[in-house]
Amino acid sequence: MGKKRSKSSRRWLDEHVSDPYVQRANREGWRSRAVFKLEEIDLKERLIKQGMRIIDLGAAPGGWCQYAAKKLQGNGYIVGLDLLEMQPLEGVELIQGDFREPEVLQELMDALDGKRADLVMSDMAPNISGMPAVDQPRAMHLAELSLDLCREALSPGGSLLVKMFQGTGSEELLAQMRKEFDKVKIVKPKASRPRSREVYLLAQGYTLV
Ligand SMILES: C[S@@+](CC[C@H](N)C(=O)[O-])C[C@H]1O[C@@H](n2cnc3c(N)ncnc32)[C@H](O)[C@@H]1O
Repeated sequence: MGKKRSKSSRRWLDEHVSDPYVQRANREGWRSRAVFKLEEIDLKERLIKQGMRIIDLGAAPGGWCQYAAKKLQGNGYIVGLDLLEMQPLEGVELIQGDFREPEVLQELMDALDGKRADLVMSDMAPNISGMPAVDQPRAMHLAELSLDLCREALSPGGSLLVKMFQGTGSEELLAQMRKEFDKVKIVKPKASRPRSREVYLLAQGYTLV
């Protein structure tokens, strides 16, 4: 590891430890600071309601699943999927695998047991190489796969919340989502680091089935 790299990872660690969202997550027993992004969107948009069937893509370590499980209070269904192993969570079915692989998609479809979901959420992000020409297409691909999943597994009227990095391909994805949902907006929750190109697309009222 070069000098520059170790300096920047040191800076990341310092920022992480002093980050108020990290501190709050630790204090309140949430598995990730990412939970506060979902919380802010949910409180504003009333996204998660009891009785819902929810798919959480890129779920590890499990903050979003924890939040959704707390809201559903056992009334509903949540399946979380990630490349990484996750600690079990009450009220959440977990699948470990790469969402880009057809067998993993099939495993998810099997878990849904023929019943469509009301909400697809994706916080998936690829490992960052630092080369935008590599990272941006990878990130867009994951967001596009989340939209593909809606065609197979989202109920009419359902919602999609998907992480996206603004850059090459993002306008096209936004335009495509606008064709398939009644309403699409770009949201940037406070817990999303201001210098990151990360935003979330919130699409509601799925029309294409
Ligand atoms: C920002 S984290 C998600 C945090 C989560 N929302 C939470 O609240 O704990 C992004 C996750 O996406 C997962 N991921 C990235 N690419 C993936 C893929 N191809 N298939 C499944 N998961 C993937 C990563 O393993 C990582 O755990």
